[in-house]
Amino acid sequence: MTLLENRPSTDALADAPTSHPGLLSWVRDVARLTSPDRVQWVSGSTAEKKALEDELVEAGTLVRLTKQKDSFYCASDPEDVARVEGRTFICSRNERDAGPTNNWAAPDEMKATMTELYRDCMRGRTMFVIPFVMGHLDADQPMYGVEITDSPYVVLSMLIMARVNSDVLAKMSRTNADFVKCLHSVGAPLEPGEQDVVWPCNPTKYISHFPEDRTVWSFGSGYGGNALLGKKCYALRIASAIAHDEGWLAEHMLILKLTNPEGESKFIAAAFPSACGKTNLAMIEPTIPGWKAEMLGDDIAWMRFGDDGQLYAVNPEFGMFGVAPGTGWSTNPNAMRAIEAGGNIFTNVALTDDGDVWWEGMTDETPEHLTDWRGNDWTPDSGRPAAHPNSRFCTPIENVPVVAPEWDNPNGVPISAIMFGGRRKTTMPLVTETLDWAHGVFMGATLSSETTAAATGQVGVVRRDPMAMLPFIGYDAGDYFAHWLALGERDGAVLPKIYYVNWFRRDENNKFIWPGFGENSRVLKWIVDRIDGKADAVETAIGRIPAPGSLDVAGLDFSDDELAKCLAVDPAEWDAELDDIADWFARIGDTLPSELADQRDALRGRLGLE
Ligand code: GTP
Ligand code: MN
Ligand code: MN
Repeated sequence: MTLLENRPSTDALADAPTSHPGLLSWVRDVARLTSPDRVQWVSGSTAEKKALEDELVEAGTLVRLTKQKDSFYCASDPEDVARVEGRTFICSRNERDAGPTNNWAAPDEMKATMTELYRDCMRGRTMFVIPFVMGHLDADQPMYGVEITDSPYVVLSMLIMARVNSDVLAKMSRTNADFVKCLHSVGAPLEPGEQDVVWPCNPTKYISHFPEDRTVWSFGSGYGGNALLGKKCYALRIASAIAHDEGWLAEHMLILKLTNPEGESKFIAAAFPSACGKTNLAMIEPTIPGWKAEMLGDDIAWMRFGDDGQLYAVNPEFGMFGVAPGTGWSTNPNAMRAIEAGGNIFTNVALTDDGDVWWEGMTDETPEHLTDWRGNDWTPDSGRPAAHPNSRFCTPIENVPVVAPEWDNPNGVPISAIMFGGRRKTTMPLVTETLDWAHGVFMGATLSSETTAAATGQVGVVRRDPMAMLPFIGYDAGDYFAHWLALGERDGAVLPKIYYVNWFRRDENNKFIWPGFGENSRVLKWIVDRIDGKADAVETAIGRIPAPGSLDVAGLDFSDDELAKCLAVDPAEWDAELDDIADWFARIGDTLPSELADQRDALRGRLGLE
């Protein structure tokens, strides 16, 4: 195997392709602590990628798919399948700064605990050093990171998810740039001669963030959000703390370009909680004639003010880590086309007998025989899903056939509208236009959704998920709301309008009322037309909803009654909602901005609930 023939030196610094002093000393310290057999600097080259793939196929971690180009299947340990929010910590110096929505531990104590876990934890393994940039290398402010990991699966996934290439390290070194230190270990050292398992991990898991140090320490898990540290850990938790300090926003949002039949384009960003439809909406195929949608990002948006006062959004990522189940030719054909273009890593999906992958919802017909995500024989009457509900495809963004040309703009695109939304059976209308920025921030701060399989824990329970950021705000939630409100007060700001959507309202038979997916383009059209002053709305207590006839349902088998149910504002439901919002605000505590309490009182008043 080429990798072994070219085995890099055990001295972390001997053949380091950089002279960045801070990087070199950090790499040396980590190597001394973790005692890997060897250190490999990841350059992003094709040969390096190929060698890692071959090694992982040989080891049985990856299965090369015969039916797809350059694509691999991987099954994790059954206990390592999702983000572990209970094991995720914000280790700010003051407990107050982590806020009531995060687990907190004192940074010194957490570092002491984890240092002992990291000691010799890479024995028998290769320590990889991955320099990357989130967003564009030519951005006004390139956002560097370096992940150290002992997982070659993480390396291959990072090559898809982040910009990793030799230019990144060269520019970072030349400018002696700051970078976010991301340390990851699966926590499974190997004794001499010990046979490795297919998915090494450790029952003890920590996903720790040190926002003041711009540092992430992750231990024990190999799964996506816990291990690909550029994504949730850096681009959301650490970046949200940086954004708070610097006056911008790091958000759990897709970015979409919409072009109307007149050829005018607008960019919108949308925040929905995990497994609530961002990747689907980002790649939407509009069902209404003349409208075009193109994707810029499907999970994370960084938004900074431009000189013209508008918010400009960039997608800091380079790939997608999408929920597989429910992604199919009928629901998200552009995702299926992106996957077809090759270069994928699939995790915890099912394998077909002829060397392809399958998951629930991919095709209308279910294969007669599969190997399920746990490696067992599976048939349609097995009585359990073949793919894990949080199984994922990891795919380069450039594969997406509808990727907007602007997706790679170093400094992003101007945002005309922000959408918030969640998964609610009741209460929330299909679409609501908020009254102004502060009201929009209130709607975002009280965003609620039924929990999904994207995180461990009970599924289907309504919880508040402010701006879809509950698991990702890297500091105090009250301070985060104050930051959002403050941006609205900024001199010269040309703010996007804020909307709230809910594709998931159910009827009395528990069926989704709104057809969703491509038909969501009808809601997007209403939003864009509202911004252009071309669509009518009616005022309700909670905001503006489409006036009769202004939501385009032409060609849809949809009765007035169904539409009314989708848009209903039911005072009894809102009475209960407001009680729940009161509990939520009480949980935020002292740092809750008084403007948000005022918004709640004003809403009570409009609903006539005083
Ligand atoms: P993360 O990547 O985990 O942050 O989640 P996401 O927001 O990207 O979620 P995704 O787009 O992958 O959607 C996940 C689930 O939502 C799938 O089961 C979809 O079938 C379902 N879904 C997406 N859009 C719609 C819709 O318009 N209507 C309905 N009913 N379901 C939808
Ligand atoms: Mn996400
Ligand atoms: Mn997604």
